[in-house]
Amino acid sequence: MEYVELGRSGLKVSVIGFGAWQASGKAWGADVEDDQIVKAIVRANELGVNLIDTAEAYGGGHSEEVVARAIREVGRENLVIATKVHGGHLRYDDVLKAAEQSLRRLGVREIDLYQVHWPDPWEQVPLKHTMRAMERLYKEGKIRAIGVSNFAVRDLEEARRHLSEASIVSNQVRYNMLQREIEEEVLPYCRRENITVIAYSPLAQGALTGKYGLSNKPSDNIRRGNKLFTDENLAEITRLLKVLEKIARERSKTIAQVAMNWLLREGNVVPIPGAKNPAQAEENAGTAGWRLSGQELMEIESVLKTLSLDFF
Ligand SMILES: NC(=O)c1ccc[n+]([C@@H]2O[C@H](COP(=O)([O-])OP(=O)(O)OC[C@H]3O[C@@H](n4cnc5c(N)ncnc54)[C@H](OP(=O)(O)O)[C@@H]3O)[C@@H](O)[C@H]2O)c1
Repeated sequence: MEYVELGRSGLKVSVIGFGAWQASGKAWGADVEDDQIVKAIVRANELGVNLIDTAEAYGGGHSEEVVARAIREVGRENLVIATKVHGGHLRYDDVLKAAEQSLRRLGVREIDLYQVHWPDPWEQVPLKHTMRAMERLYKEGKIRAIGVSNFAVRDLEEARRHLSEASIVSNQVRYNMLQREIEEEVLPYCRRENITVIAYSPLAQGALTGKYGLSNKPSDNIRRGNKLFTDENLAEITRLLKVLEKIARERSKTIAQVAMNWLLREGNVVPIPGAKNPAQAEENAGTAGWRLSGQELMEIESVLKTLSLDFF
């Protein structure tokens, strides 16, 4: 496994993490079993994956409880635990309360990376209140590092202004071959400022694994309405999958591994694929330890340029 430092936090994380949103009951499909997810985390950790991402929002805290089981199996010192405060809990006192509840559900004394899940879109709680609460948790030793999620550059700049002793070490945002919006502003800013980009939905929620197509679409609650899986978009994505499959075959990798390795091409990006079972976790861990060649990256880029996806 390869490791990188999360921002300037001193926390060393594997270049591929593990997303635990899947541990939210059956929202991600009837095949989700808590035991399998615990085993998936254990297997990922055996292969060197140490960054585990969860949130109080995932299954109303259930995901954190499942992660707690994995922590007990693997050993606290072998994991970097990242969780998030809900975007509706951003008042000063609510942040403190949410952190206490996450600590309890996770069964730990300290959260390694505590992230603001998304900026408050409805109540307009001033970010300074949220960040002051985050800094208090940091000073009290209840969290080791502060992160944010779904923050645009304007949000990042403001959030950073309200911190004096701690800094923002990461921004967790959607990033995959098919959804590259962050390349315009967020990614260059984070690179420049040494803020690690934690890439969520690195497999485009399964669209980049090769197993979905026109006659086989995911039907779970989370993905049913996802525009990636419209007939029109799937037809386009199929053209990309053919190229990924060819490269995967030549390199003895899988389509999913090629798709996520592409995210590692320039550094400062840590994908956190969600996995439902040990086999997926094992495959995802195999994204690290090698790199696509310049020629392969060009081949991928030339087909990506021609894709016409409609998210309207
Ligand atoms: N901060 C945020 O707002 C935010 C938003 C979204 C996600 N996240 C985090 O990011 C993590 C990952 O994102 P995501 O879950 O949206 O999408 P993702 O990682 O792109 O896709 C996950 C899904 O892909 C399939 N899969 C995973 N590994 C596979 C493999 N090796 N082979 C074949 N299929 C595989 C699984 O579903 P099937 O087997 O059913 O196809 C799995 O549920 C989440 O768990 C969560 O921790 C954060």
